[in-house]
Amino acid sequence: CLTSAVSNIQPVDQNWPTSQNCPVRPAGWICKSLEERCNRILRNMEASLTARDRVGIQDFVLLDTYTSETAFLDNLRKRFHENLIYTYIGTLLVSVNPYKELDIYSKKQMDTYMGVNFFELPPHIYALADNAFRTMMSEFNNHFILISGESGAGKTEASKKILQFYAVSCPSTKVLNNVRDRLLLSNPVLEAFGNAKTLKNDNSSRFGKYMDIQFDHQGGAVGGHILSYLLEKSRVVHQNHGERNFHIFYQLVEGGEEDLLRWLGLERNCKHYRYLVQGKCAKVSSINDKSDWKTVRKALSVIDLSESDIENLFGIIASVLHMGNIKFEADARGYATLNNNQEMQWLLGIPNQVLQQGLTHRKIEAKSEEVFSPFSVDHAVYARDALAKAIYGRTFSWLVNKINESLANMDSSRKTVIGLLDIYGFEVFSVNSFEQFCINYCNEKLQQLFIELTLKSEQEEYEMEGIEWEPVPYFNNKIICDLVEEKFRGIISLLDEECLRPGEATDLTFLEKMEDKIGGHPHFVTHKLADQKTRKTLERGDFRLLHYAGEVTYCVVGFLDKNNDLLYRNGKEVMRQSKNAIIKHCFPSTEPDSKRRPETVVTQFKNSLVGLTEILMMKEPWYVRCIKPNEAKQPGHFDDVLVRHQVKYLGLMEHLRVRRAGFAYRRKYEIFLQRYKPLCPDTWPNWKGTAAEGVRCLIKHLGYKSDEYKMGRTKIFIRHPRTLFATEDAFQVCKHKLATRIQAKYKGYKVKGNYVKQREAGRIETCWRGLMARRERQRRAWAVTDLLICSRFIKGFMNRHQPACTDNSEYLAYVRHSYLTRLKENLPKTVLEKDSWLTPPPILQELLLKAQTSALFKGKKENYPFSVCRPFADTRISGPPQYSVPVVKYDRNGFRPRLRQLIFTQEAAYLVEEAKIKQWIDYSSLKGVSVSNLSDNFLILHVTCDDSKQKGDLVLQCDFLFEALTKLSVIANKQNCIHVVQGSVRFDIQPGREGFVDFKSGQESMVYRAKNGHLMVVSL
Ligand SMILES: Nc1ncnc2c1ncn2[C@@H]1O[C@H](COP(=O)(O)OP(=O)(O)OP(=O)(O)O)[C@@H](O)[C@H]1O
Ligand SMILES: [Mg+2]
Repeated sequence: CLTSAVSNIQPVDQNWPTSQNCPVRPAGWICKSLEERCNRILRNMEASLTARDRVGIQDFVLLDTYTSETAFLDNLRKRFHENLIYTYIGTLLVSVNPYKELDIYSKKQMDTYMGVNFFELPPHIYALADNAFRTMMSEFNNHFILISGESGAGKTEASKKILQFYAVSCPSTKVLNNVRDRLLLSNPVLEAFGNAKTLKNDNSSRFGKYMDIQFDHQGGAVGGHILSYLLEKSRVVHQNHGERNFHIFYQLVEGGEEDLLRWLGLERNCKHYRYLVQGKCAKVSSINDKSDWKTVRKALSVIDLSESDIENLFGIIASVLHMGNIKFEADARGYATLNNNQEMQWLLGIPNQVLQQGLTHRKIEAKSEEVFSPFSVDHAVYARDALAKAIYGRTFSWLVNKINESLANMDSSRKTVIGLLDIYGFEVFSVNSFEQFCINYCNEKLQQLFIELTLKSEQEEYEMEGIEWEPVPYFNNKIICDLVEEKFRGIISLLDEECLRPGEATDLTFLEKMEDKIGGHPHFVTHKLADQKTRKTLERGDFRLLHYAGEVTYCVVGFLDKNNDLLYRNGKEVMRQSKNAIIKHCFPSTEPDSKRRPETVVTQFKNSLVGLTEILMMKEPWYVRCIKPNEAKQPGHFDDVLVRHQVKYLGLMEHLRVRRAGFAYRRKYEIFLQRYKPLCPDTWPNWKGTAAEGVRCLIKHLGYKSDEYKMGRTKIFIRHPRTLFATEDAFQVCKHKLATRIQAKYKGYKVKGNYVKQREAGRIETCWRGLMARRERQRRAWAVTDLLICSRFIKGFMNRHQPACTDNSEYLAYVRHSYLTRLKENLPKTVLEKDSWLTPPPILQELLLKAQTSALFKGKKENYPFSVCRPFADTRISGPPQYSVPVVKYDRNGFRPRLRQLIFTQEAAYLVEEAKIKQWIDYSSLKGVSVSNLSDNFLILHVTCDDSKQKGDLVLQCDFLFEALTKLSVIANKQNCIHVVQGSVRFDIQPGREGFVDFKSGQESMVYRAKNGHLMVVSL
């Protein structure tokens, strides 16, 4: 975050590290002592977020004297005393058991390490876990973390810390939390059943454990799978002095509820049980069996065990304890008998008789017969213990399977996994037996794998980067692996051969066989083969192997027995009669019978190790090497000799040498440039070219000599740590200056930000006020306009009956418009519904008149269409009430035109000359009205001639012909008397004397008296 923050500021040139003032320049590279450097770092650095710790060196690769074991130990010790228990060798993590709680595993610490590169923070198990996880996510491949070290070095604790880290750091949902709880809680259960107090460790894992954590493509932990290796079953029936049986026995007896113990027939006293007291330390101050019981009890339900499973499980634990208390007595013939054994009733619900027979007899099949051969007391004890071991061992496997079922992920989409291998460390006791042989063989195999993978990957990296590889001498332990596992010649083959061959094979014959077959091997020695000096350190029944980790002397006693792990056939049959469902499941009737020999223990173990190696070879490795600082489990005590021994056999020096072969340090160009670019003005704050060019420019500025570094394809390789230290120191100095500038910039930025905010706020306020004012103005303008409109409307309304004028024109238009709109929506549905026309407002009565005009003239008279658009007036002259219109009257004789007014009253039509009535026609005497079909405006009013008062028909021309006739027809109610005629109209000049008006169309409208005496009307 610092580097990204500083990317945005500009350097101040005078403060800039240059080849003159930068501590990196060659003159400043006088190699200071480690002490001096540490002190300087101590003075200069902030507490944690720096490349190096306050004390010592956080990556051994940066140790100048990397070949010196003493320097290595010094660094480790110095850090240990400062509670810095983790140190890197490249990406390998060395962890020293602090034997005290350190405040470095909090949620806060986890958050700090999430998504951060190794180099950025002090070494931590979380950094390794996080880097493995992130590499898995980005490269979508599988990984494993191999945690090794001797018993009590902190392997199991390390694996728990990793698991806890994933539990917290991975995405969570309800389902994922469920898986997470199971993954976490499988630990206390497996520890209860598979861990025990030993002399080396109060919580020693007595089985090897490989756990796969499966992640989906989003990084959620969606499932898991556990493989267990070689449980130390012999502990069930025998414990060395100072050691205990598996925790679960003590937890049940100490913590089990009263009812449960009563139901199981147990007493709350470990001393009552033979299988619990042999080590004489049933109670240990560091172990709280009672509270552990509660944890395990709860965990059992979380990992999906049903209540009946749990009952059966406790039934088995109790049965094993009872079994240990079974006593045999010899009868007269020396055969074992069982008398009054109370315990029998508590044994897995197996009928007493069957059990008794099974524990005291062996079934032998001879041809077609089955014969029961009685055991001696020793034999019976052996068979009982074998049965107890088998029961416990198989129950343990059942439990692992159950846990796997509960962790199984059913989703078939592709997963990536991180495997955690927490396997027994190298063991050397005063007396070492078959178990130690297997355990140490396992460690040899893992060392082989380690050598192969590290050397191979290192070699590959150099090749990939195009850098010359300088081979490193290292001890290859293949020779020891071969000694143990080689076909036909190896110790395992010889042991199996001895176990399987007919005849009297014993542990001693096995020893002889080894002496015979592999006597000359440089890593193998026995009492017989040893020189005089060595012979003194060996018993007759011992053989010694020179393991990569050191010499171990094994006592052959028990090798054959333990390897055979024979459970007499009827032992299995007895178990099948149990009512306990788990036992029934563990001893299935389908199991191959004893005629075919099962694989020996060591062969099974060898095969499972081959399987494990295959699993691991397909994954990317990460290593945690655990170191035990002292044998006394004391905090703050660093036993140099003990640690030196572990450093040696864990191959740490070799690993360091391999890492340092040629170059102490390598980094991707991008990362190197990102960190150190502030050291060069050309690369700061942004480098435009490629990262490799940027690094080249940077190191040129810093004055790197050509033999001190190499440019690979994607990485820079730096040969000596001091080069890197100088660069880092320069960065530290520069960083403080940059930080001050960042602070100043940031403060400036904040103040500026506030100012800009205030300015923006002012602008917004002004805009808002303007907007409000404009709206108010508009509102007022609308109000004024509204007022005007209203007043105009009112005025229009008041003048609605006046002839159209400016005062009422808008109103009338509005009334017309609204009527027509309503009419449009309410038209009669059929033509027949004449009455259902919407009644027009009074001011639109004209419309009715127009309709009437249409009925009268439409299609009949040529100039009718021109009349449609001319509004009708109520009157064309002022005065008479109904209607009046100016007309031209043609004399009946001579057809002289005279201007007159035609006035319609309610009763009659008057032809008036100025104020004088020239003719008066009562409507009752109006016979009809003729008009031509042409465009002229002539009308002839025909009157009845009976009336002597009548002068004759009237020949008139009226510019408002349609209006006048429509009015007449309405006023006089004479709709049917108007006739449109063609050609000529005959009329009565006076009674008995006729005249004619002829109508025709022409080029010019004319009216004249034709030669024939007719009035000729020519229209256009
Ligand atoms: N990181 C740690 N912080 C505090 N105590 C620790 C740490 N690692 C180990 N211990 C202490 O050391 C004891 C032994 O550690 P652990 O059980 O992990 O050893 P181991 O290597 O698994 O041994 P074994 O091979 O016998 O199983 C623990 O019970 C614990 O008390
Ligand atoms: Mg352990």
